Amino acid sequence: MEDEQKSITDLIIETHEGLERQGPGSPEMTIKALSFLDNLDEISRVMDLGCGTGGQTRVLAKKITGKITGVDQFPGFIKAFNDNAKKSNLQERVTGVVGSMENLFFQKEEVDLIWSEGAIDNIGFEKGLNYWNGFLKKNGHVVVTCPSWFTDERPAEIEKFWADAGSKLDTIGHNISILQKSGYSFVAAFALPENCWTDNYFIPRETAEKALLEKYTGNKTVAAYIEDEKFEVALYSKYKQYYGYVFYIGKKV
Ligand SMILES: C[S@@+](CC[C@H](N)C(=O)[O-])C[C@H]1O[C@@H](n2cnc3c(N)ncnc32)[C@H](O)[C@@H]1O
Repeated sequence: MEDEQKSITDLIIETHEGLERQGPGSPEMTIKALSFLDNLDEISRVMDLGCGTGGQTRVLAKKITGKITGVDQFPGFIKAFNDNAKKSNLQERVTGVVGSMENLFFQKEEVDLIWSEGAIDNIGFEKGLNYWNGFLKKNGHVVVTCPSWFTDERPAEIEKFWADAGSKLDTIGHNISILQKSGYSFVAAFALPENCWTDNYFIPRETAEKALLEKYTGNKTVAAYIEDEKFEVALYSKYKQYYGYVFYIGKKV
């Protein structure tokens, strides 16, 4: 295994496809966000964009009665998503499809709820909210988590880290204003607590990384990838008062 060539994308998929989540979050916070919505029933159409292996989708599916379609770009995640739905006996109402969040296959104004945890920043908060708005029915909801700044000023090291990762973070106030300019009325916003990062994401990821390191002993790409992931964890510990994931909930006007 030592010399096997692996891309960073391969390593991200291999580390994450067996995990409950692929980013920070928790069942409690998914349920808290859902508590702000009042107009769902068994004919509601729900989309979970950037669904990963569907940890949050299954939490949603146990709380609501409508059908949920998960969309993710990685076939390995969608295979795990559909296997997990079957194991939870949710396969009649929960289906994962490989696709792009930027090129959706739904009809215009077909959807009651667009859910997306930890994924919208891959295409940009404003771009995602504007594009997804067209697929929602009037009074339909958008519920997303997005990494956001908690302060107006930040240390240069953490700003550089997120810029290098290709994510443009904004403050919560700025993001609420974007939501309001993108065809939604503001419903709620709240930050995820620290255990969503640590207990629910970093700790299970570290276990998966340890197994990866053993499987690819001596592989320099794998070792460098895991060092980068450790750096992310160290930076979170150092700078967590400056940033975090925030749930934003809007209702289409
Ligand atoms: C941080 S993970 C979050 C996964 C899951 N929602 C969760 O909270 O555990 C982001 C997910 O978005 C997916 N993703 C990123 N860009 C995408 C795109 N353009 N189209 C579809 N999926 C995308 C990734 O494959 C990944 O599964």
